[in-house]
Amino acid sequence: MPRARALARALARAVDATARVALDGASMRATCARTMTKPNDARAVATARTRARAYSVGQMVHRDVPEDNSTMTWTFEASVRPKVDAILRRYPSNYKRSAMIPLLDLAQQQNKGHLTLAMMNHIADVLEVAPIRVYEVATFYSMFNRQKMGKLHVMVCGTTPCMLRGSREIEKALEEWMGVKKFETTACGTFTLGEMECMGCCVNAPMIAVADYRNGVEGYSYNYYEDLTPQTAVKVCEALKAGKSPRVGSQIRDKAEPIKGLTTLTGDPSGPFSRDLDQIKADVDAAAAAAAAAAAAEKK
Ligand code: FES
Repeated sequence: MPRARALARALARAVDATARVALDGASMRATCARTMTKPNDARAVATARTRARAYSVGQMVHRDVPEDNSTMTWTFEASVRPKVDAILRRYPSNYKRSAMIPLLDLAQQQNKGHLTLAMMNHIADVLEVAPIRVYEVATFYSMFNRQKMGKLHVMVCGTTPCMLRGSREIEKALEEWMGVKKFETTACGTFTLGEMECMGCCVNAPMIAVADYRNGVEGYSYNYYEDLTPQTAVKVCEALKAGKSPRVGSQIRDKAEPIKGLTTLTGDPSGPFSRDLDQIKADVDAAAAAAAAAAAAEKK
């Protein structure tokens, strides 16, 4: 029995040590990412930030840094408050927390693409919930960014239909054109290259989505660019960088129709057909008129 207890204690110690090593490893990587940062080296800043992001995707651990810490406060701008009120009015007061995702989205738009601790705390105050309720939502959904982003967040869809149609080549072309790797931000701060899972338009795969944070909440846009090739993906980004508005949606067709034109319903339908509803209506009307005439004749 003592031997069993000793074994159990040794096992518990081993598990504890393994967990500590894992945690230390994670925090060391995050620390390395921070200490590698040289204040005057914009590229290093961007890379360090994005490395931290890559390593924190699983846990989204917050660590106080000068620009994002627990002593800071934040509020919605006066111009954004009508939108906040409009969102809150959608829900009964006892279900205020249902406004959490729209408010996080609005806050992120106001803050040029990322959420800070102070922003999440403010939203918790607005919704009258414990801050952890906001943290758990903001760190669960990948569309909420906890690290600073470029003005344009370009997300390449990496799920199977887009991958089979060439999304990896698109990602490579964008990496080369931007001079960054996936999850990094360009030195000038214009682009962050990211990845998303299926964005629901596989029929026009491959595609990218671009969140544009350049013009605040009023000018915010989140657009899909579809049916891309590596060349057209770069062209879309070039146009966005130049302040132009490239065609949104498919780059080569109007809708989500087959790429080589219609493959079905190309001739007259062969039936079976619907009954002739016009004739049926005419018959019913005629019968009603005859019945009315017969009733009138009877009265005379
Ligand atoms: S797989 Fe890319 S949109 Fe569905």
